[in-house]
Amino acid sequence: MSANIDIAWAKPDLNVLPRLESSEIPGPKSLDMHGRASAIMKGYSGQVKLFPVVFESGHGVTLTDVDGNVYLDFSSGIYVTTLGHCHPKVTEAVQKAAGQLMNCHDFTTPIKLELLEKLTEILPGDLSGVQLYDSGTTAVEAGLRVCRAATGQYEMLSCFGDFHGKSGHSISLARMNKASGAGRAQGFYMMPRPNPYRPWFKKPDGTIDTDAYLAFYDEFILEATTNQVAAIVLEPIQGWAGSIFPPDDFFPKLRQWCNERKILLFADEVLTSMGRTGKYLAMEHWDTLPDVVTLGKGFGNGFPVTAMVVREPYAESVESISASTSYGGNPMACAAALASIKAIEEECLLENAQRLEEYFTKRLDKMKNEHPIIGDVRCKGCLMGVELVKDRTTKEPFDEAGKIVYQSAFRKGLAWIPAGHILRMSPPIVMDLDTAARCMDMIDEAIGETEKTLGYNG
Ligand SMILES: Cc1ncc(COP(=O)(O)O)c(C=O)c1O
Repeated sequence: MSANIDIAWAKPDLNVLPRLESSEIPGPKSLDMHGRASAIMKGYSGQVKLFPVVFESGHGVTLTDVDGNVYLDFSSGIYVTTLGHCHPKVTEAVQKAAGQLMNCHDFTTPIKLELLEKLTEILPGDLSGVQLYDSGTTAVEAGLRVCRAATGQYEMLSCFGDFHGKSGHSISLARMNKASGAGRAQGFYMMPRPNPYRPWFKKPDGTIDTDAYLAFYDEFILEATTNQVAAIVLEPIQGWAGSIFPPDDFFPKLRQWCNERKILLFADEVLTSMGRTGKYLAMEHWDTLPDVVTLGKGFGNGFPVTAMVVREPYAESVESISASTSYGGNPMACAAALASIKAIEEECLLENAQRLEEYFTKRLDKMKNEHPIIGDVRCKGCLMGVELVKDRTTKEPFDEAGKIVYQSAFRKGLAWIPAGHILRMSPPIVMDLDTAARCMDMIDEAIGETEKTLGYNG
């Protein structure tokens, strides 16, 4: 299997990288430039506010800032550059498209046709009705409209901890305490979903009781809705909430539950698709075919291109939602997405993600054995979570530790996603095993140092 994996172009020289040139991170040039930018640009994410580094270039699994510091990338931006920074095939395809035709509304172009045919070839089952967008949010919004058009019902169920975007309806599918403005849109309801590490409903032996969640959903529909539910919308694996994986029986049972109630199953795979978990769709891990699926982030490996895909019986409903947009499916976007899929195929990158999963899983288990503040570890492909707790019995979240570990590993040269009490990791799937080990060393060391600082036995 590993013989055909082709990731040599992305392999950094670990004899010299990561390389920290400035005595402080962020360095002086970063601080100056970010200071000037933030006098104008408002609304930076927490990721930037905690480490206002100014990145200048990226290559494969490395990022370089304006002070000459080179970091190993353990976040793929924000789960976006799944195939590494500036993958040569993606860069070349976008450059070529940019010189040929940038936009012609939603007319068919040769490159769009090629992408559509390739996409429906790699997706499972009869996921064959496609519309292209320019952000995860717009794809999710379109998916909601299709669910309404296809069922004639208007209510939407979603789950605690999920995240689906930041427009009026997509944000109504998620926690809203940080989104000031109007309240949840009418007809949107949230329910708990099974989290094996922190179950709400347990069997007598203490393990998670998936059936009890589904029984609760029936009660919930009866009591809280007007019984006009169009769809249940979920992330297959919750990204923002901390790489939270469902129990293996959840999606097969949920599929059955949806069929029996004529409720559509909408899998928002903006974060989890296109190789992130070692498959094109994370739902394939549970052999479950969603009715509607959204693709984003790694779909164009950094170029803003996303998709909303529906099963064949719902394809005609897409006709009734005024689905097209100004930028969706422009030739550069199609070139980026097509080149990304071809790279995954030609370079055996799903296999590389699976190979990395094997390594990460062993390493995470070892770290859990060695570090008392680690309560739980989880991994599929290159999507990982490490949950830090003050006490393994009470499972009390350890936010302070998460923040210190994040900052300490960043100072060692690891660019990654900031943590509450859950460390979230999503390296590019073009990473080699030596680099993966180096990144895990940095996290391992950072956790050990944090334990000492906070008075735990590391
Ligand atoms: C699961 C999921 N859906 C939708 C979105 C929104 O995507 P975008 O930021 O491209 O609008 C995100 C972004 O993080 C996401 O993780």
